[in-house]
Order: sequence, then C-alpha cells, then structure tokens
Amino acid sequence: MGYGLLLVALDDVHLENTRREIEKNYEIDVRAFGTDLSDHCAAEKVSQWVEEQDVPISILINNVGVGYVSGFLEMPLDYYEKVVNLNAIVMMKLSYLVLPRLMKEENAYILNIGSIASLFPAPYKAIYSASKHFVKSFSYALREELKNDVKVSVAFPAGIYTNESIKDRAHKFGWLARLGMLEPEKVARQCLRGMFRGQRRIMPGNAPVVYSRIRDVLGYRLTMSILMRNFKKGIINH
Ligand SMILES: NC(=O)c1ccc[n+]([C@@H]2O[C@H](COP(=O)([O-])OP(=O)(O)OC[C@H]3O[C@@H](n4cnc5c(N)ncnc54)[C@H](OP(=O)(O)O)[C@@H]3O)[C@@H](O)[C@H]2O)c1
Repeated sequence: MGYGLLLVALDDVHLENTRREIEKNYEIDVRAFGTDLSDHCAAEKVSQWVEEQDVPISILINNVGVGYVSGFLEMPLDYYEKVVNLNAIVMMKLSYLVLPRLMKEENAYILNIGSIASLFPAPYKAIYSASKHFVKSFSYALREELKNDVKVSVAFPAGIYTNESIKDRAHKFGWLARLGMLEPEKVARQCLRGMFRGQRRIMPGNAPVVYSRIRDVLGYRLTMSILMRNFKKGIINH
C-alpha cells in the first residue's frame, strides 16, 4: 500500500532478512530494530528508536504475543510473567508511548492482535486467555476515548499457521479447532482491511463468529467441557 515500515522483533538474522526482502519486493522504506520485548524497558527503547527515525507515524500494530498449551502448574512462574508482559504490558506501553505521535496525523490507527481466546476463558491456556482478555478490554475502552483522533481496532483470530509449534498443535487438536485454522497472509489481509475501515473488532475467517454462536447455543458449561477436551489434546511438553 506504499507505507514505509518500522519493524520490531527479536534481534536475529531473520529480522534483517525480512527487512531486506520487503524493501526489495515493495520498494518502500523499511527500517528494523531488534530487541527482546520481554526485557524491562524494551518498550521505552523502541519508543526512543522511533523518535530518532524522525518520520510521521500513522499506524501502530501490536502483534507480538506468545502462547502455550499446558496445565497451570506445569509451566514455571517466570514464563507466565513473560506471557503477560509480551501479550499485554508491552502492548499497553507501546500504545502509551507512540500515541502522541499518532495524534499528530489526520488519519491514524492502532491495530491490536488479540485472539479467539479474548472471547472465551481457555482451559490449559489460562494465562494466555487472561492476557488476551486484557487486550480486548483495553482496545475497546481506548477506542472510545480516542474516537475523534485515532481509530483503535482489535482482531480475534482463531488458529493461524504461523510457526511449527502451532502446526504441530493444530494436528493434535480436535476437528473443531482445526476448522478455524487460517494461513497468515489471509489473516493479515483481513486485519488490515478491517483496520482501515475503522472496525472495532475484526474476526478473521468464519471461526470466531461460528464459535461465538456455538457458545450462545450450547451455554457456558457445555462449551467449557468441549474446549477442555480440545485443548487437552494439544498439550505439548516444553
Ligand atoms: N498463531 C496463532 O494460532 C494465533 C492465534 C490467535 C492469535 N494469535 C496472535 O497473533 C500474534 C502473532 O502470533 P504468531 O503466531 O505470529 O507468533 P510467532 O510466529 O511466534 O510470531 C510472533 C512475533 O513476535 C515476535 N516476538 C516474539 N517474542 C518476542 C520478543 N520476546 N521480543 C520481540 N519480538 C518477539 C516474533 O519475532 P521473531 O520473528 O524475531 O521471532 C514474531 O515476529 C500474537 O499476538 C498471537 O497471540 C496467534
């Protein structure tokens, strides 16, 4: 679409390769900053780097997030701190730090990537789903506050084939979960379309709507027991 990009991800060779590939294929200005966003003060470092770039910023996409499937006591406590930090706190901090720049633009957008787990409590993904409920609630509230200045959208994708661990889990999950799996390109396209239309919530594919209807028809207890059985199948020993 001709927008320049400021990319932030872990500081490794993939980030630079991605930067070069996008720049070569789309002839746009692409800059990259490698950092571990789970580090204390990483969001502040990103914000400082953004300031130094001295370019107008009209879109902030908070995509970083990590997930897992496990019994609550099976993972170390510091892993859960990392999940909450990456999925919720970093999103909140980057929104806070970048917003003043967004507000200078005539058309500005924030797109937060939630999850289908923003809509349901997810057994065996308890901290992930709690962090994604934070994403939903924060996004809806901020949208109302910023109504006249910045359009805030939140996306609730079901499964996306983004990495090997998810492909492995999807294979183990039941048919209900596999039904909602999508390729990342399709999710990205629908999310951007929804963001530019100023949609409050973006439901990529049919799965989030279908799952919500199933929950309304079956009721809470039956839905929970189906989710329990589905997610239990996806437990992977880390
Ligand atoms: N995949 C799904 O099934 C699914 C479903 C619903 C929602 N989501 C949400 O979609 C978003 C993207 O997920 P994904 O599946 O694409 O995950 P992913 O394949 O693991 O990619 C996550 C992205 O975040 C970056 N990242 C991860 N840890 C980081 C850290 N500590 N510091 C800096 N950057 C870090 C990764 O950077 P590197 O490239 O450097 O590793 C990568 O660009 C997340 O918010 C996730 O919760 C995913």
